[in-house]
Amino acid sequence: MAAFTLSPATSSQLRSGTNGLFSPAQGLIAKSAKSQSAGRERGMKVTCQAASIPADRVPDMEKRKLMNLLLLGAIGLPSTGMLLPYTYFFVPPGSGGSGGGTAAKDALGNDIVVAEWLKTHGPGDRTLSQGLKGDPTYLVVENDRTLATYGINAVCTHLGCVVPWNKAENKFMCPCHGSQYNNQGKVVRGPAPLSLALAHADVDDGKVIFVPWTETDFRTGEAPWWS
Ligand code: FES
Repeated sequence: MAAFTLSPATSSQLRSGTNGLFSPAQGLIAKSAKSQSAGRERGMKVTCQAASIPADRVPDMEKRKLMNLLLLGAIGLPSTGMLLPYTYFFVPPGSGGSGGGTAAKDALGNDIVVAEWLKTHGPGDRTLSQGLKGDPTYLVVENDRTLATYGINAVCTHLGCVVPWNKAENKFMCPCHGSQYNNQGKVVRGPAPLSLALAHADVDDGKVIFVPWTETDFRTGEAPWWS
């Protein structure tokens, strides 16, 4: 004759039972009830001993935690990947208003050495280089054959076209909608609402270094709109 003892269900077992999930403990309780009933029918003394299982060792809980983590990763990673470029979209191009100095680069991507540059760029020259945040920026050669202490950002303040230098007109003239800027980049004809942005063109160890311009715009006497 078999002898079993039935132990009371723990609170975790009871919780599992109430939320509709199957647990081994619950299975044992159900099974033992059946066995007792069958035993009684056969006139046998039946007791059942069921070991209690802590909640953290219930296999279903581990699976649920894992599934939650996988779900979080599946939703979180693509969302973060989409959010970053979306946020960057709202950073205005050509603001050039943060960070330290950036070495000016020529068309080949080489650092610009002032002495070399002045050998091939004469008085009045305005030639594009790569400036702050990669913006196209004009280096200006003054009439006394020195490099101007400012660079002119070539991004049109209307809709962002790159504005070419027109030597014959002594102006920057935007081909997109006809805006014009004088030889220092101050707007003289719309629809562009603002002058071209400025950057400091410093010289460090013989090389041109662009530094954000945060002071008053010397062309307008106003605070820099790009800073
Ligand atoms: S983008 Fe230059 S005038 Fe419109």
